[in-house]
Amino acid sequence: MQTKPPAKKQSWKPGNMLFPVPAVLVSCGGTKEWKPNLITIAWAGSVCTNPPMLSISVRPERYSYDIIKQTGEFVVNIPTVKQTKATDWCGVVSGRDHDKFEKTGLTPAPGLKVKCPAVLECPVNIECRVVQTLELGSHVMFIAEVVAVQASSELIDAKGKLCLEKAGLIAFVHGEYFALGQYLGHFGFSVRKKPAKAPAKNPRRQK
Ligand SMILES: Cc1cc2nc3c(=O)[nH]c(=O)nc-3n(C[C@H](O)[C@H](O)[C@H](O)COP(=O)(O)O)c2cc1C
Repeated sequence: MQTKPPAKKQSWKPGNMLFPVPAVLVSCGGTKEWKPNLITIAWAGSVCTNPPMLSISVRPERYSYDIIKQTGEFVVNIPTVKQTKATDWCGVVSGRDHDKFEKTGLTPAPGLKVKCPAVLECPVNIECRVVQTLELGSHVMFIAEVVAVQASSELIDAKGKLCLEKAGLIAFVHGEYFALGQYLGHFGFSVRKKPAKAPAKNPRRQK
């Protein structure tokens, strides 16, 4: 086994270096027992296509942990550039001390299938019901089924395509937030054959 990295690399201690990741606003609560709350989550990911499932990993000491554990529900709200400050703030203060909806000015909107509110200002709200809980160590992973999705009408074009690239999405990279920008290609573009060019009818008129 190689113990020294090649000259152009340095060996780093094992840690979470899977970047970029999303930084999402997860809403929870909204029941008799629990007021609505928001928690910022970076350890989130899609885990299954059919049935649609995603996971979020939450430290048990978070106020949101007990809410999600007891209600079995949460909404993943995808923030945009406009909500970056709120996303960071919801990740550094606790719902034990603050009403995060009120303080950020974000609007709680009813869920379609879950009791906890979605964030109106976020272009996509993914309503989730917990199906499995995994105690991993520092974090507990909630694996949840997606039971409903709300998408902003402003981003849906005439053909029914959700143009999320127009939303101003953000990514979280090694402790910092970035706006997504340059388009690089679509799924499968690397193997797609270019359509053959139709021969010009009058080559002289070509510029
Ligand atoms: C960008 C960012 C990502 C975060 N990701 C996670 C995460 O994946 N899991 C987690 O338990 N806490 C995460 N946190 C920390 C919580 O959001 C933070 O402790 C929050 O204040 C908890 O709120 P609550 O006590 O109201 O639940 C993150 C914070 C930030 C700023």
